[in-house]
Amino acid sequence: MILQPDHIARLRECLEGFTADAVLQTLGTPAWRALARNETVPGLRAVPEGTSCEVLTRLFTLQATINEASARRVFGDLLGHLIDADILASDAAGIRALVDIRPYGDETHDWLVVSDLTPGLNGISSQIRPDYVLGISEASSSLARLTARRPIARALDLGTGCGVQSLHLATHASEVVATDVNQRALALAQLTSHLNEIDVKFVEGSLYEPVDGTFDLIVTNPPFVVSPPEGERLVYRETDFEGDDIVRNVVTGAASYLADDGMCQVLAAWIEPTGQPWDERLASWIEPTGLDAWVVRRESIDLPEYTEMWLADSGLARGPEFSRRYEHWLNWFTSKGIESMGFGWINLHKSGRNQPDVRIDDNPAPVREPVGIEFAAWPDRLKSIGNNSLLERSWTVAPDVVEETIARPGAEHPNSITLRRTTGLAPSIQLDTIGAGFVSACDPELTAAQIFEGIATILGLDPDETKRQHESLVEDLARDGFIVSG
Ligand SMILES: C[S@@+](CC[C@H](N)C(=O)[O-])C[C@H]1O[C@@H](n2cnc3c(N)ncnc32)[C@H](O)[C@@H]1O
Repeated sequence: MILQPDHIARLRECLEGFTADAVLQTLGTPAWRALARNETVPGLRAVPEGTSCEVLTRLFTLQATINEASARRVFGDLLGHLIDADILASDAAGIRALVDIRPYGDETHDWLVVSDLTPGLNGISSQIRPDYVLGISEASSSLARLTARRPIARALDLGTGCGVQSLHLATHASEVVATDVNQRALALAQLTSHLNEIDVKFVEGSLYEPVDGTFDLIVTNPPFVVSPPEGERLVYRETDFEGDDIVRNVVTGAASYLADDGMCQVLAAWIEPTGQPWDERLASWIEPTGLDAWVVRRESIDLPEYTEMWLADSGLARGPEFSRRYEHWLNWFTSKGIESMGFGWINLHKSGRNQPDVRIDDNPAPVREPVGIEFAAWPDRLKSIGNNSLLERSWTVAPDVVEETIARPGAEHPNSITLRRTTGLAPSIQLDTIGAGFVSACDPELTAAQIFEGIATILGLDPDETKRQHESLVEDLARDGFIVSG
């Protein structure tokens, strides 16, 4: 997989214009949607070997064998070097790709990501190598969307795989360090970074072992599949750690590698044992770290569904072997006292406060992406409620807040008043009349105390009692970003 720097520069030039938008346009929506279902026939019908983008789309995106003449048109005399580097292969039928080079981007960037080829196109199951390097997956995109994109000095991409998180991190971190235990992953991620002219320091090793110093941000979606230890293991999804110990080690080790105000964000799965609440178990990992934490469980998956999902992911087609392994997995889960598998986001923050704020939510509700804005705002929100003067401060309503009222037609008062944020985690909160009055009167010129006193006077209530009763509401509203200090 070694390419000389000048060959990489030439490859970059050959791939110019091979962007996510261009591929979509080249394929057309039906063929693109078919490809998302792992079917290439519509794409192969739609795309000729004409322009550079068409040739590249057939070669990489559709995994087709192309004519050598077309390959020469696109790559010129670089073709031989790409074959020598095991990026392309040549045989009597023509030229085919040995790795995937996939256009990818965000609102402002066009990137290219190098990974192993997606297996199982057109329903043809193929055995993948144990050191298979996964391309951009749903988990990669999910982690990228939940990352707090604060401008920072130093970021760690732990378990870099194809290097996709490093691309995102380089947009807001001055220095990016990426690790992996898989040498093939490091080689492909390095090619990803070079093709995109991004400076990343790659180091080989497990968890935090190969890195020095501290980081302002650690992001990881470690191989979190919990499965019986026998049988083949795929390094991108399974480890030699027992159960969910890889996730526990990421969490318990984070404090030593986080700078002050640093964050660690983990897309994770965890065991939900029989006879112990899942949140208690996660709290027992987090509390000794002294870090603030915000865990959001997005899903609790029952074991049959979990097993079917991961057996299918390893390309095992239905049949006797599938049934045998299925039963073996379920027996193993039972023997380990596992009831279900939790899946979600673990966010840790080094605030240095004496009493860490550990919040563990069960929240499967839809979110508004990118949800990372929520976690980027979280440290400041905790700071704003970290002293006792909530009533003595002024508050403004966040710009994304709307109020929903439900009432019988013609009724004088609503039956219910709900405040809802329309970005990030899109939380909602039910308010009573006084709470709703407070929110609508929030003003930089007035303290919360003054507003509650005013409302109490209008309603003929005791002002001190009204303030006392609603102080926790101010905290809840600030904690979830409905109101902002000042
Ligand atoms: C699910 S993949 C995620 C890849 C990439 N971060 C992404 O977003 O697509 C997990 C990665 O962790 C790597 N890995 C496995 N065990 C590891 C360990 N003990 N320490 C660090 N990385 C590990 C795997 O090789 C794989 O590249």
